[in-house]
Amino acid sequence: MFDIPLGRLVPEYIKKFEPYIPSKPDPELMKLYGVDRLWRLNNNENPLGPPEGSARIIEGFPPKKASIYPSGDSYYLRTKLAERFDIDPDQIIFGNGANEAIAFVIKAFCQEGDNIITADKTFAVYEWVAEFSGFEARLVPLEDFGFDDEGMLARIDERTKILFVCNPNNPTGTYWDEPKLRRFLDTVAGRQIVVVDEAYCEFVESPDFPDGMKLIREYPNLVTFRTFSKMYGLAGLRIGYLAGGRDVVDVIRRTCIVYSVNTVAQEAALAAIGDEGHVARTRRHVSAEKAYLIKELAALGLETRAGEGCFVMVRLPVSDTLVYRRLMAKGVMIRTMTGFRFPNWIRVSIGVHEAMEAFIAGLGEVLGRRGNTT
Ligand SMILES: Cc1ncc(COP(=O)(O)O)c(C=O)c1O
Repeated sequence: MFDIPLGRLVPEYIKKFEPYIPSKPDPELMKLYGVDRLWRLNNNENPLGPPEGSARIIEGFPPKKASIYPSGDSYYLRTKLAERFDIDPDQIIFGNGANEAIAFVIKAFCQEGDNIITADKTFAVYEWVAEFSGFEARLVPLEDFGFDDEGMLARIDERTKILFVCNPNNPTGTYWDEPKLRRFLDTVAGRQIVVVDEAYCEFVESPDFPDGMKLIREYPNLVTFRTFSKMYGLAGLRIGYLAGGRDVVDVIRRTCIVYSVNTVAQEAALAAIGDEGHVARTRRHVSAEKAYLIKELAALGLETRAGEGCFVMVRLPVSDTLVYRRLMAKGVMIRTMTGFRFPNWIRVSIGVHEAMEAFIAGLGEVLGRRGNTT
């Protein structure tokens, strides 16, 4: 056997990087925690599932098509979205989830010595991709739970390539309104790429929320991310996209992996576009269940943060990992927030009403507190 000289083969920035270990599949977790049902409230999925049109595509997918490569650049999807947003199809790139789009953008613009800027408490993949690719991630503390525009601008130097803004922010639900985003873009003045991650934009009810797909027509350095994982209930099929000015997208296209989006995902997403009934039903559900959670959590004497998006943050009087384990033993899976730098907070995704009730009842028992229904 050979001794592999990993010390020499592995770059220093990879040695320092801790891998993210995803949770085990549900049947394994159910065995581990001794439960026969598990409410998954950890990944901000859509409890209503995909739109009907997408469900029909998935159910009726002809097995023969599985042996044929998909469209390498999601041709029909880009055409349909371009019509919808009144842009050119070449301004859109699809990826295996918006996660892959993060990697495309970082690879396209960063080289040794460069940095990206984002918040310290936000979706962690911007930071992770930068760091395991050998680039510095400058993390600006949130200000009153929201992205700090001045703080981000102050960290820019000549090696800054990309500014990532999660709008609305996962996990705090805060957002920049249109004037604030415009001020930020005007100050950056095209010197860096600004990414606005709009993974949860379809859930936003506030009228002053900016539409990144419109702003890309005015700001050539702006890139927006969207996904079919959240509102459109297709998380398991892995499909998301980025859109931006044509010159910037032409550069990003060089780093993207063709054929990374499978045929079922492309066809199901195509069928989802324009299903306003699904969007309205999901929004109604999310807003009713969010109100229920906020009321019940207040009755348990707990502080919450619930902004835009399909999730609520809860501050605990005890360790979040302890509560995670105890709730798992009751068949409820939530997200601990220590990894998001919010120690002893948890994030709970909006699920079906029965799941919300199970969460409230379970949390009341774990904390030994009585609320409205416990
Ligand atoms: C803010 C944000 N951006 C991007 C993603 C990734 O989405 P996708 O499932 O399309 O990779 C997520 C998923 O949770 C998210 O919360």
